[in-house]
This record gives sequence, structure tokens and C-alpha cells, in this order.
Amino acid sequence: MIELTQDDLKERLNAPIFHHISETADELGLECYVVGGYVRDLFLQRPSKDIDVVVVGSGITIAEALGKKLGKGAHVSVFRNFGTAQVKYHNIEVEFVGARKESYQHDSRKPIVEDGTLEDDQNRRDFTINALAVCLNKDRYGELVDPFDGLEDMRQGNIRTPLDPDITFSDDPLRMMRCVRFATQLNFYIEDETFEALERNKERINIISRERIADELNKILLSPIPSKGFVDLDRCGLLELIFPELVALQGVETVNGRAHKDNFYHTLEVVDNIAKVTDNLWLRWAALLHDIGKPRTKRWEPRIGWTFHNHNFIGEKMIPDLFRRMKLPMNEKMKYVQKLVGLHMRPIVIADDVVTDSAVRRLLFEAGDDIDDLMTLCEADITSKNQVRKQHFLDNFKLVRQKLKDLEERDRIRNFQPPVTGEEIMETFGLTPCREIGSLKSSIKDAILDGIIPNEHDAAFEYMMKKATQMGLVPKPKQN
Ligand code: CTP
Repeated sequence: MIELTQDDLKERLNAPIFHHISETADELGLECYVVGGYVRDLFLQRPSKDIDVVVVGSGITIAEALGKKLGKGAHVSVFRNFGTAQVKYHNIEVEFVGARKESYQHDSRKPIVEDGTLEDDQNRRDFTINALAVCLNKDRYGELVDPFDGLEDMRQGNIRTPLDPDITFSDDPLRMMRCVRFATQLNFYIEDETFEALERNKERINIISRERIADELNKILLSPIPSKGFVDLDRCGLLELIFPELVALQGVETVNGRAHKDNFYHTLEVVDNIAKVTDNLWLRWAALLHDIGKPRTKRWEPRIGWTFHNHNFIGEKMIPDLFRRMKLPMNEKMKYVQKLVGLHMRPIVIADDVVTDSAVRRLLFEAGDDIDDLMTLCEADITSKNQVRKQHFLDNFKLVRQKLKDLEERDRIRNFQPPVTGEEIMETFGLTPCREIGSLKSSIKDAILDGIIPNEHDAAFEYMMKKATQMGLVPKPKQN
């Protein structure tokens, strides 16, 4: 966070659009302020996007007048029902709203709205750091209005509601998710009273749509240290309500003095590891879900100890239902997460043993273009505290990566296309579609993956002829 005086703020609000708004407001004799996230992000030096402007009076009137002043190139949209208006000018979006007082009903996020003062408007905002306003009228240009000491909260790294947090959260329960999300994005501390209100009001999350919750979860996952958000969600009890499968990963059981690791904290460590090396949201989701099948597969086997056999396959199967319920996209993103969860054990198994060409080729065949992401996930998955064991895996992963590169250059397995097609087999033996063709094709594929023949047409054709003869197939006589 940086300290900004009125002169600094004046300078930072120097873009022509702010001056146009200022003039328009003065001409109409209306007080107007930049408010909310835009002001917060000036102090936190974060890139700001949309500009929110609050007007003591009608937001629509000022937006329409501004649209006229800007002329061609400005586009004004009015939302009479909400008393708001938006002005788009080149690539800038400014949202205008009249200062208001709001009260909410118990079962809805839709407020009853009345005109109010700037202070009323600031009161109804979610957090003190989001309630800062900077005046745009000429004689007070750049003056900060900060009735709840949001500035001090930014200095201290605190998230706190302006009013009694029970009221703020109960008015709009989405704010509970936003609370944890801001704390995670900004690495801020949720002040105790505010946190306790999260615990008390958590059930109200049920009136919030899954899409909005998913939006907030995505933002948490895209933060620098996502585990912070999931730990906070868990501590206040929200996680159990929105994502019980993650909570089920928790706990350590001991039999005969042997304990397994806590899979919730392991998962969070993997997510934090991966967040250091990629901004790919769906790879981060794969990290969050890689062990989601563990609770359903946990067994104590006296001669082996704790096992989670097939947890990757069970996890893979759980993903579509989970994505559907959470209103995450049911498209290729979901399939990608599914694939990574299903395959996440493979590189580890290879790296734990002698790294053979054949195992690496098969891995490459199954992962295709997602092989690099799969390797990134697997490296993040090594959270062993045993340094020797950790090093063993990391060294072997290097070997796997090198082999992947060599084999790909030689055999082009990543986007495998059968070198001998079904049509060619049918043509050679005068066959119509039948089981034998599939079986010949898959034996060619296996021979390539096992390194018996190179991934080339002539070698594959010769191999196919040998196999076909063994199956009793006779080539069609050549016609002159
Ligand atoms: N706001 C609120 N309660 C909400 C959503 C928004 O009080 N549930 C207020 C806050 O003052 C917030 C402003 O409206 O700063 C703008 O909201 P929005 O654009 O959603 O959030 P930002 O704070 O700008 O941050 P982000 O874009 O990261 O969500």
C-alpha cells in the first residue's frame, strides 16, 4: 500500500474522463465521487478496471449529460429499475449510481432502495477498504472521504465491515465469500469480529447462486497463496456447505501406530506449489481435486498399511458431478481436469521405478498435449518431508522429462495417428469393417509404444502383414 495525498490523488485521477465527469457534475450542481474498488486499488497499486461513481442525486441524469458532452464514441446504457447507468467511452467503463440507503429482506439479495447521502451509501458497502470515496467536484477534486478508516485497515492489512458484520453479511451473503476472497488475494487478515460473523451467518450462503460462489472460488484459486482462502473457508464453516468433498479429505487416522497424512492439508500444499509455477486456472483446479477420490478408497490393509487404491480413477469419475453441481463449465475444461486427475499417479509410478522408454511412450500417448501440465501437477504433488525421497522423485522426474523429449522427437507419440489406417488394411485384405481390423490396429499401436517398431508407415505395414498372416488373413490378389 502507498500513501497518497490529495495532490497525489488529483494526479492519479488525471485521465480526461474524470475531468469530463467533474465538469458535468458541477454544471448539474451534483456532488460526485469515485468509490469502491477503483479507489482501493489506487492505494494498493493494483491494476484497476471499471470505475464506479456515486452521485448524491440521480446517477442516470449525470450519465446522460456526460454522454451528450462526450458526443460520438460514448455509449450510455440506462437501467431504470436499478437507478444506475453505464457510460462506455473507448475502452473505459464508468458505472453511475445515485447515493442510496438500502435495506434487505431476509430471503433475498434484492434490496429495498431509497435515496440517501454519501454516508448512507458508504455504510451499505461491504468492507471498509471498499468504502473509500474521492470527490470529483472541482473545488474538492481529489479529497478522500474515509469515514471508517479504510486507509488504516489497508495499512494494517485488515478486512473489516463498516457496520455490524452480522448486518453486512446477512444483507448480502455473497459478501462472506468476498470477505475470504479479498483476504486471500490481498493476503489480509479477517478481523476477529468480522470472522465470527462469518461463522454465525454461514447458512445464509444457501441463498447465493452457485455461479457466483464458483466465481469467488476461481478468484481464490488464482490468488498467490490459495491455501489461505480454503483454510479460512474451512475455519468459518463455509467450506462444509459449499464444497463438502474437500472437507472429507481432512483428518488423520492411526492403526497400530501408523498414520496416513492429512489429505486436505496435503492438497492445499499441492495447490500452493502449483500456484508458484502456473496461472492456468484449470491446472490449479486439477491440483485442488487430484486426491478428491481418496476418502472413498481409503483402506487399512494389515500387510501393507493405509492404501488409496484407484483413488485417481474414482476422482476422475467424481469430476463431472462436482462440476455440474458447482456450475463450473461442463466442456473441455472439465475434461482436461478429469484427465489430469485420472493420470496424476502415472509419472510418480514411473519415477519410482526404472524409467523405461515403453512406460514413458505410453504416458505420452495417453496425456497427449497435456503432458507438460501433467508433469507440472506431479512435481507439485511431491510434498514429502523426507528430503532424500523428495530428491529421488525430482531427479527421476528430470529423467522422465528428458525421455519424453527424446521419444517425442523420435516417435511423435503426442498426437498419435496410426501409421497404417483401417482403410489400408481393408484394401489389402479385401475386407469390410470387422473386428480383425481393430485388433490389427491396436497391435500396431502397442508395438510402437513398446518400441518394437518405429512410428513409421513401412515398418508398421510389415509388422501388420506378419500379424495378419498369424491370424490367417490372406492378401487380396493384386489386379493388373
Ligand atoms: N460491493 C458491496 N457488496 C457486494 C459487491 C460490491 O458492497 N456484494 C461494493 C463494494 O464497495 C465494491 C463495489 O461495490 O468495492 C464494486 O463492486 P465490484 O466491482 O464487484 O468489486 P470490486 O471491489 O471492484 O472488486 P472485484 O472487481 O475484484 O470484485
